[in-house]
Amino acid sequence: MAPIPTFTFLRALQKVIIVLAAIIVLFSMYYKSFPSPTCHPPPKGLTKHTNTSMSTTTPSNLAATEKTNKPVVLLWFWPDGKKFDFKLCKDLNINSCHLTDDRSLYSKANAVVMFHRDIKDDLSNLPTTPRPKFQRWIWFNMDPPTRTRKIPGIEAFFNVTLNYRRDSDIPARWQLTVKKKIDDEFELPKKELLVCWIVNKTDLHTKTEARYSYYHELAKHVKVNIFDSSSAENSKGENYFITISKCKFFLSFEDSIHADYITETFNGPLSAGTVPIALGPPRANYENFFPSTSFIHINDFPDAFGLAEYLLKLDEDNEAYMKYFQWRRFYNVRRHFTEENQEFAHAVCQACRHIVLTNEYRVILDVYKWYLI
Ligand SMILES: *[C@@H]1O[C@H](CO)[C@@H](O)[C@H](O)[C@H]1NC(C)=O
Ligand SMILES: *[C@@H]1O[C@H](CO)[C@@H](O)[C@H](O)[C@H]1NC(C)=O
Ligand SMILES: *[C@@H]1O[C@H](CO)[C@@H](O)[C@H](O)[C@H]1NC(C)=O
Repeated sequence: MAPIPTFTFLRALQKVIIVLAAIIVLFSMYYKSFPSPTCHPPPKGLTKHTNTSMSTTTPSNLAATEKTNKPVVLLWFWPDGKKFDFKLCKDLNINSCHLTDDRSLYSKANAVVMFHRDIKDDLSNLPTTPRPKFQRWIWFNMDPPTRTRKIPGIEAFFNVTLNYRRDSDIPARWQLTVKKKIDDEFELPKKELLVCWIVNKTDLHTKTEARYSYYHELAKHVKVNIFDSSSAENSKGENYFITISKCKFFLSFEDSIHADYITETFNGPLSAGTVPIALGPPRANYENFFPSTSFIHINDFPDAFGLAEYLLKLDEDNEAYMKYFQWRRFYNVRRHFTEENQEFAHAVCQACRHIVLTNEYRVILDVYKWYLI
């Protein structure tokens, strides 16, 4: 082993010292450039104490400083009236803004989230005071275009879009994340059933949309176990994932077919260790978000009979079935929130994350022109 030449070593050390000194000088300049408290009085609760027994750096004061420095994101409506705990965002590691529903903070809010469906036709439930210059309005809508009501007069109100679509400013969807290192840990949940679906039983027998007619055709050739979505026993909270994990396949049939409209009905089985059978946009669109080998698409087969045959074949061939889980070595999938009141929580948290990432000035001239085509 050759010793490190002392000369080279000293040269390197010298460089390190110079860089460190530069950082210290820059930092102290930056620090001094902060305005003194005399021209910007600190917020209430942080007023200077002349009393030394109460220093301004106690933990409670630090917390208060942090809170007031974060951008304020005001949720103007509880979407659909569904009130959730903002702490859910912390579960998603999002803590970068001060989320609030307190309308008295309107004039301070850096962003205001407006849930489209809750806006009244006469716009009477929108803010009436002038909008501060720095404030951005977020158009929040999770309904596909065919179910989005065109409210006249709001097309030019917004600066940011929050939606499931890939081309929105804040795409609100549950996404896979890449694992830091390959891991073979996956253990298949115990399977008791072949094909399952959680669906509104009344709708199943009365409605005729694509997904219902496909189900009726499929059920002629393979048993599909139906769990009623109105029963919390099968479909809420932890039970939802338990129900799905017992099945080898799950019908991830979307209620309407639109580009990028791939919802929790797909994320559910994926996160539960079950293979989703997709009915929705074309396969290629699913592959924009999920590995091609993580799911089955109904269009992979000429008809429901072909699909049924394939599922029955996979039931006999464990090796082929297990190939549907190989993507798990590379990606993490997260369970979505399943409580009724949490339906919009994930999207609202994404708005909080986004607002600190970018501060660009932007005007959307016509939100409908972008969305309703
Ligand atoms: C300092 O504050 C403590 C507690 O708030 C109080 O008991 C004490 O009298 C104060 N001392 C002075 C000098 O103001
Ligand atoms: C099921 O569908 C019926 C009819 O469309 C509706 O009245 C009912 O509220 C639905 N149930 C659930 C749990 O969504
Ligand atoms: C947001 O959009 C509104 C309406 O188009 C516009 O008046 C305002 O200047 C925009 N604000 C920002 C910060 O982009």
